[in-house]
Amino acid sequence: MTDLAAFAFGLPKAELHLHLEGTLEPELKFALAARNGIELPEKTVDEVKATYDFTDLTSFLAVYYPAMRVLQTADDFHDLAWAYLQKAKEQGVVHAEMFFDPQAHTSRGVPFENVITGYRRAAVRARDELGISAELILCFLRDLGADYAMATLMEALPYRQWILGVGLDSDERDNPPTKFTAVFARAKAEGFFLTMHCDIDQVGSIENIRAVIEEIGVDRIDHGTNIVEDPSLVALAKERGLGFTTCPVSNSFVTEQMKSDEIVGLLREGVRVTVNSDDPAYFGAYVAENYVALAEQAGLGPADLAQLAVNSFEVSWLTPSRKDAYIAAVRDYAAAQGVALAN
Ligand code: ADE
Ligand code: ZN
Repeated sequence: MTDLAAFAFGLPKAELHLHLEGTLEPELKFALAARNGIELPEKTVDEVKATYDFTDLTSFLAVYYPAMRVLQTADDFHDLAWAYLQKAKEQGVVHAEMFFDPQAHTSRGVPFENVITGYRRAAVRARDELGISAELILCFLRDLGADYAMATLMEALPYRQWILGVGLDSDERDNPPTKFTAVFARAKAEGFFLTMHCDIDQVGSIENIRAVIEEIGVDRIDHGTNIVEDPSLVALAKERGLGFTTCPVSNSFVTEQMKSDEIVGLLREGVRVTVNSDDPAYFGAYVAENYVALAEQAGLGPADLAQLAVNSFEVSWLTPSRKDAYIAAVRDYAAAQGVALAN
């Protein structure tokens, strides 16, 4: 491991853009299939990985959703999240705000309760056994429409104390954020934080980013780096201190590049960009590995990586005092290695 990679792994960080269903490694997929008596078309890990041939978001989602049928019981959801959280610990994660997609399960007959109770059990266990604070963000699947999203929000209300915020993911094509204005207004009124995916290089990317800022009033944007196309929107995002949860390695799978110029350009302008892993089992890189990949691509040094970690706490949904404590830990970590942060 290079010195920079060691620095990146040890850096205390928050992961803010991580789909729990995107952490399903082939080995666990086989184990869960066996446990649930499901026959899979692929027989080996290599055969599963051979299907990871993505050219864009749509071709990724076409592999991602079918894999989820091995997830059925609360134990399955627990085991998935627990495997991620153990991995996250090795990657320096001390706080995780994790997406989950209940409709990917309720739409195939799995009760919401199985999903939320399994994930919650893993989150509590992570706090007790790993010292990681782990929270859940419920994502609506934008291609399943606003009515189903609203019904899912209602189904989630009895579990509201276990859910920090709501998000919007899946296929953005023909599913702009404005379809979900009423759902997100209701979620906000119920006290949830709001975030939405603005995926990379979509038709209407910049209009969608404008809408999530101006109409929906999100607290954070997932991906969203197409904002660089409109400097006035960048200025607005900076003024509001909006966070961007970028995922460099994921970008390199669903587009031709990591979008490092956009990510680093925003970082240099003082916009609160963060680095995250998205669907690490599919893109082959957990969060520290994303820090390293971006650093290698863009020539970043340890002070830049420490700034990204500071940003991850600043735009997290932690309380101000907990943010301050984690940011102090980043500064101490950097200082102990002779690395000074810019501010
Ligand atoms: N679901 C899982 N990963 C996603 C991504 N990057 N964009 C949209 N939906 C997703
Ligand atoms: Zn995502």
